[in-house]
Amino acid sequence: MTYSRIIGTGSYLPEKVVTNDDLAQMVDTSDQWIRERTGIRERHIAVEGETTCDLAENAARNAIAASGKQISDIDLIIVATTTPDQIFPSTACLLQSRLDIHGCPAFDVQAVCTGFIYALSIADNFIRAGNATCALVIGAETFSRILNWKDRGTCILFGDGAGAVVIEKSDEPGILSTHLHADGDYASLLHVPEGVSKGYDVVRQNAAFVEMKGNEVFKMAVNTLGRIVDETLDKNNMKKSDVDWLIPHQANIRIIRATARKLGMPMEQVVVTVHEHGNTSAASVPLALDVAVRDGRIKKGETLLMEAFGGGFTWGSVLARF
Ligand code: ACO
Repeated sequence: MTYSRIIGTGSYLPEKVVTNDDLAQMVDTSDQWIRERTGIRERHIAVEGETTCDLAENAARNAIAASGKQISDIDLIIVATTTPDQIFPSTACLLQSRLDIHGCPAFDVQAVCTGFIYALSIADNFIRAGNATCALVIGAETFSRILNWKDRGTCILFGDGAGAVVIEKSDEPGILSTHLHADGDYASLLHVPEGVSKGYDVVRQNAAFVEMKGNEVFKMAVNTLGRIVDETLDKNNMKKSDVDWLIPHQANIRIIRATARKLGMPMEQVVVTVHEHGNTSAASVPLALDVAVRDGRIKKGETLLMEAFGGGFTWGSVLARF
């Protein structure tokens, strides 16, 4: 059997940090409200001119260095992003050129906060089907660009950043299973209502921003993530106690705690970065993974459950032996 295996992780955050107190100067909110409702203390925000591809490139180079591979070994590039630098070429193609890689497939995936889980699943399938041997998979966002900085219900939640992994063909698993889902019926609960085809004038006026019915999204996220945990464990015939680490999408500490409770998992086994990163959408899971790999918490051979829920709605998980 052919499998894929994560052999390197990397991440990158813009230098600029925006605290809750900074936000309280811009909208009617407070550090206490944001901490209590979300767990977020601060987030990194890209400065003017700093793009998704800039963040992706730094994360990618860090992941490739950690993998021990050469850039020339990469034969597939997938970037998960909701905030590409340009309408086209894709961020993956822009990145490919910066890395001086030529000829291999490179494309973007758009599944908002579940984007990295989608991208990792696609890359795993490419490798298992024999169509790639060494893939660079990135989640990168400058979500700050699509926020309405006058809307306190959304602008306090998000941050910018990028996370990346290199996965390689392997005889041993590796990635044990991936699970992807979507239901477009819920678009109105969480969306940017305008786009290229429907409202390019609005986009050009810089006014196509995230809108969210936070409370309804919250309930859906908690229920859906509970179900995906069951689905992932059942598929692999595993018990909750077989999972060493939960690496959840970092949207809200209350959602993360609910998923950990569902797994019967103490918070010590849950990687939490939401307090420092906010919700970085597609970047959040690989960012959290890299943090816990680099600080030595996640060790070789351990079993990781990565999961995410986001706009679409989309949701999914990856179970992997590290
Ligand atoms: N500061 C102070 N008060 C606020 C703020 C704020 N930043 N934002 C909202 N409020 C007020 C509301 O106006 C409301 O006031 P009212 O009672 O007078 O009407 C009150 O606080 C409660 O508002 P709720 O929306 O009910 O607050 P809730 O407890 O649900 O928390 C939050 C809001 C943090 C957004 C939460 O619902 C949440 O995290 N939702 C899920 C987000 C998520 O997971 N998204 C999915 C991924 S994102 C993606 O895919 C792009």
